[in-house]
Amino acid sequence: MIKKCLFPVAGYGTRFLPATKAMPKEMLPIVNKPLVQYGVEEAVEAGIDNFGFVTGRGKRSIADHFDYSYELEHQIKGSGKEELLTTIRSLINNNKFTFTRQNEMLGLGHAILSGQTLIGDNPFAVVLADDLCLVDDGGPSVLAQMTKLYNQFRCSIVAIQEVPEDEVHKYGVIAGEPMKDGLFRVTDMVEKPKKEDAPSRYAIIGRYILTPDIFDIIRKTKPGKNGEVQITDALLQQAKDGCVLAYKFKGRRFDCGSIEGFVEATNHVYENYYKQGRN
Ligand code: G1P
Repeated sequence: MIKKCLFPVAGYGTRFLPATKAMPKEMLPIVNKPLVQYGVEEAVEAGIDNFGFVTGRGKRSIADHFDYSYELEHQIKGSGKEELLTTIRSLINNNKFTFTRQNEMLGLGHAILSGQTLIGDNPFAVVLADDLCLVDDGGPSVLAQMTKLYNQFRCSIVAIQEVPEDEVHKYGVIAGEPMKDGLFRVTDMVEKPKKEDAPSRYAIIGRYILTPDIFDIIRKTKPGKNGEVQITDALLQQAKDGCVLAYKFKGRRFDCGSIEGFVEATNHVYENYYKQGRN
């Protein structure tokens, strides 16, 4: 069973400056909830109850968000506003949140390795909070779909989505042998390829299930694209040594790391969740 989830949240969020000058990009709200809380709720739906955050300087408010705020709660007690805190209260009551720092920004692979102390020797999920994944029809969350597959196959899994050819350079891209509906066995993986070098149009989205042997593999992985230690390169090694699956998930993904995706997600959540009382 997957019980732990890692959130690498040390990035600067430069695309959202000046909004992210003094505030973590993961705390940007989609309507009334910060992005990172959507990620946590998605993981809770998958049965995960232990959350590790790899943070950096200026990210204190993420830790504060997943902790009680006694003054605030005291202030609004008995007022109609109290219920606005019900969901986050119950997340805090029922889950464990721990934090560690990534002291240097050496890439996503390095961030995940920095989380080893929180994860230990367990299989775990990784959520990149700026990819917001929603399943509008009320079906299982994207991570719940992936943990179910993990229970069956017991190996690392990456979420994928087909993207237009002129967008492959923004993602890790896989090649794979089809196994069954939407599931591939990875044969190749390239971080942010030029479109002429991309092995397919299947882009990796920010949801991973990783087996703990990945930590040793990351340790041996040399810096790749942009001089950073890439999880994509470590996963390719793991695929060569054993097995990595890629899963075309059911649901919708919004790239909230871009202004366009953020606005699209905001409108979508407002119309389909907030106005319907589903948020
Ligand atoms: C990271 C990964 C990339 C993946 C992407 C998904 O890139 O390195 O493989 O496709 O997340 O959002 P980043 O967007 O952090 O540059």
